[in-house]
Amino acid sequence: MSKSEIGLIGLGTMGAMLSLNIAEKGFAISVFNRTSSRTSEFHAQAGVLADRITPCDSLEALVASIAEPRAIILMVPAGAPVDEQIAALRPLLGKDDLIIDAGNANFRDTETRAAKAEADGVPFLGIGVSGGEEGARHGPSIMGGGRKQAWDQVGHILTAISADYEGTSCTTWMGQGGSGHFVKAVHNGIEYADMQMIAEVYGIMRDGQGADAATCAETFKAWNAGPLKSYLVEISGEVSAATDADTGSAVLDIILDRAGQKGTGRWTVIEAQHLGAPIPVIEAAVAARNLSAMKTERERGEATFGAAPVALKSDALSVGELEQALIAGKIMCYAQGFHLLNAASTEFGWDLPMPEVARVWREGCIIRSTMLNDMAEALTAAPQDNLMFAPFFAKLVEDNMPALRKVVATAISHGLQVPALAAGLGYYDAMRTGRSTANMIQAQRDFFGAHSFERTDKDGAHHGPWGA
Ligand code: 6PG
Repeated sequence: MSKSEIGLIGLGTMGAMLSLNIAEKGFAISVFNRTSSRTSEFHAQAGVLADRITPCDSLEALVASIAEPRAIILMVPAGAPVDEQIAALRPLLGKDDLIIDAGNANFRDTETRAAKAEADGVPFLGIGVSGGEEGARHGPSIMGGGRKQAWDQVGHILTAISADYEGTSCTTWMGQGGSGHFVKAVHNGIEYADMQMIAEVYGIMRDGQGADAATCAETFKAWNAGPLKSYLVEISGEVSAATDADTGSAVLDIILDRAGQKGTGRWTVIEAQHLGAPIPVIEAAVAARNLSAMKTERERGEATFGAAPVALKSDALSVGELEQALIAGKIMCYAQGFHLLNAASTEFGWDLPMPEVARVWREGCIIRSTMLNDMAEALTAAPQDNLMFAPFFAKLVEDNMPALRKVVATAISHGLQVPALAAGLGYYDAMRTGRSTANMIQAQRDFFGAHSFERTDKDGAHHGPWGA
């Protein structure tokens, strides 16, 4: 019997979909799941693709069924299960056999695993895969990290299964170690922020303008035909339009306002703090998710202080201004995300291919949007520069920022929450303030801790007259 070209462990939703995708692209694949009934069930449901899939009921059988040098994808929950799986698998493998962690790993874990693999002289890759179930099945965006040689062993398979943007595959090797998983984490941080800003604008329409879900659906659909064209705006239109079969109400109206999270957005914020890279829009989005979880406290607050949102006058904000605010907020968010990537690239010596990051996000992933193509072009011209200074985006910022300011000011004065949009506006204002108020911070630091300060008129470290 001929051997498989690749193996996959973990037939949860993502693993199963990825396996079918690999088989569909013509590669023979062996699969294994801890619960073997799941493996047989998966194989039985694979239809015409079943011939290219070898179900295995043990790790030994899996290893024996794959051609050497082997490549095995792990699609198991992030964290300890990955280490346990590697520990169980590695002793069965040869020196040249490659393990690929394709889960949503914390890049620090990937760095540790890559360093261990390096020390043991065995290949290892950590790849970020985005696109949810649909993407995994028909074409995800893939952000690879690890040794280039290891990437080259499987690059053709990953390229074949990934999404395609006008003939270009949305898969790239980002750099060494945990770089692929770091890029995926930033993708997720941006995902949180994009979602939050859409939710904030939805809140203005629902609570400020009294729009029903169907009206919001129409607005999102219209926006999806313009500069905001993106997967997240598109699905916002779809979820707003959906009706609940049991009650006849809009589905959106019966969904509890408590958002879950697996923590990848939080990782982005934590790493940004380590790197001293400001990403306030993403930070606000993560904080908003945390606040959403505090449902009981929020209800207590409403009973104590009265409800926050107050209706807007009918002509207070136009649909066009809301759209423009979202455009401006989005640019601020991505400028921060790419700045964070640049900071990490320098700190960890990854040499991240910035335009490529934007390119692999154009299709397949959750944050895919038309604007990412313009970002790829801007980053090709100036990979290290803040995106807001790229001529194309500087013009967009100038055109749309007045609307963001008006939307934020109006929302805040009516108790409507717009923390991520406001953070975008705050970032913009900070970034165009040549002389900030940090002179006061420096004076305070010097006063209580003799930390010294720089002067505007002389070089060197100085102290104020308040010293002993
Ligand atoms: C993707 C998504 C996917 C996902 C995560 C994060 O790129 O396909 O980002 O990885 O939705 O599970 O979701 P939460 O942190 O919101 O749970």
